[in-house]
Amino acid sequence: MADLDYPMYVVTADAGTGPTGCLVGFGTQCSIHPPRFLVCVSKLNHTFLHAMEADVLVVHVLGEDDLEVASIFGEETGDAVDKFAQVRWHPGPDGRTPVLDDVGRWFAGRELQRFDVGDHVAVLLEPFEVQVESSGPQLGYQRVKDFHPGHPA
Ligand SMILES: Cc1cc2nc3c(=O)[nH]c(=O)nc-3n(C[C@H](O)[C@H](O)[C@H](O)COP(=O)(O)O)c2cc1C
Repeated sequence: MADLDYPMYVVTADAGTGPTGCLVGFGTQCSIHPPRFLVCVSKLNHTFLHAMEADVLVVHVLGEDDLEVASIFGEETGDAVDKFAQVRWHPGPDGRTPVLDDVGRWFAGRELQRFDVGDHVAVLLEPFEVQVESSGPQLGYQRVKDFHPGHPA
């Protein structure tokens, strides 16, 4: 699996207790009609409890020039630092969930279902707002696989 390449995302959540978010590689489209997307959040992450209690997640599709954002969200943990003091962001379409200003491609999704898939919980999303303001190459796992995750799983 370490040889595969796949898109990298930053998933953000705010359950009413402030902005949270982490780098995510386990994410995929999973239905066309209706449109659905699945993201998997590690149970160890600071983001986890917040994502489980939120109604909405924002999924940012990283570009190759978003390496610094990937590092902040994938190598640091909200248990120890304020990631959102290091990036420009604004509340998203629900008036709350953070949207990162410097990432041109993102969508906001309503949480429909959550299910245990092992050391991660999969969240099924219904996208309801999409922005695509970048056409550059996407950031893939192979570019960041040597990162040191803020949490081990
Ligand atoms: C290449 C890479 C892929 C990752 N994929 C995921 C993932 O799919 N889901 C997840 O919850 N965490 C994933 N992580 C781990 C978190 O992004 C990382 O532990 C982060 O620091 C957690 O931040 P938090 O504690 O503030 O939530 C990944 C990390 C890296 C470096």
